[in-house]
Amino acid sequence: MTDGEPEFRARLDAAAADTDALLDELLSEHREHGELQRPARLLEAMRYAALGGGKRLRPFLVLETSALFGVPRGHALRAGAALECVHCYSLVHDDLPAMDNDDLRRGQPTTHKAFDEATAILAGDALLTFAFDVLARDEVHPNAAVRVALIQALARAAGIGGMAGGQMLDLAAEGRFGPRRTPAAADIATLQAMKTGALIEYACRAGAMLGEAGTEAASALARYGRAIGEAFQIADDLIDLESDSVTAGKTTGKDAAAGKATLVATLGRDAARARLSTLTDEAALALGALPQDTSVLSAAARFIAGRRK
Ligand code: IPE
Ligand code: IPE
Ligand code: MG
Ligand code: MG
Ligand code: MG
Repeated sequence: MTDGEPEFRARLDAAAADTDALLDELLSEHREHGELQRPARLLEAMRYAALGGGKRLRPFLVLETSALFGVPRGHALRAGAALECVHCYSLVHDDLPAMDNDDLRRGQPTTHKAFDEATAILAGDALLTFAFDVLARDEVHPNAAVRVALIQALARAAGIGGMAGGQMLDLAAEGRFGPRRTPAAADIATLQAMKTGALIEYACRAGAMLGEAGTEAASALARYGRAIGEAFQIADDLIDLESDSVTAGKTTGKDAAAGKATLVATLGRDAARARLSTLTDEAALALGALPQDTSVLSAAARFIAGRRK
């Protein structure tokens, strides 16, 4: 088995290109399903937020975990595009003045800067709901029960017990709603598993769901997803501390000033790096439970831990 690195890059590029093309098509001026209008400014803001050059790592994970079970690529692409809509909405709202107050995203002005706050809020709302429209369509899977399971799991990953809940804990840990207390490492892990880990774990579980895989394979992929989800946010926090805005495509050096609860702030960067390496091993171990060739997914775990943007 190879280390999967060159193949990983090629497949990530292909996932990004195919996801961009599908989102471009889905978010077109063409009205669907009896829609009376697609207001031009809202559509433009949704397209700006969704087509702005993200890594498309979550769709890649849906595609690659789906490929393990022979899921048709077109099905997985749709599920990945739906998930990416949720992710892009989460970024638009995360950047709002009331949240992290950021001006730069993916090397461009944030959506509320390029448009205005009200339009950015609505673009986020509309991307979130659009995700469930896309996921409910026949093109995702012929079996409606599978689609309902995918929809419910995404709702849970995005909602109060997932991303939105984690974002609340993230803001609370800044001391916005009461006195700031230094959170314990375990509380930071919970917060990050929710705000970032939940959507990444979902991406990995989606392949097992689309492929109607057995519980052993599904739980191996969930375990892999949790490991890389945790690694993803630790790497993000290291980027904020160590990288520059041009490389990262977003303003860095803000987390400490905002009093963000991060593992890097609590344990220091050496401990955070050690945790990244443990998580990369944990991800590989989880994949070891699968009989398929998972070298590309192992390479993805290493990429996530070492990413610079
Ligand atoms: C950034 O996500 C937000 C976090 C969850 C840390 P990504 O780093 O995946 O952002 P894009 O989509 O590639 O821009
Ligand atoms: C964001 O975490 C997590 C989301 C749910 C969007 P961050 O606030 O650290 O993400 P960046 O650094 O703005 O991309
Ligand atoms: Mg944030
Ligand atoms: Mg932020
Ligand atoms: Mg960050």
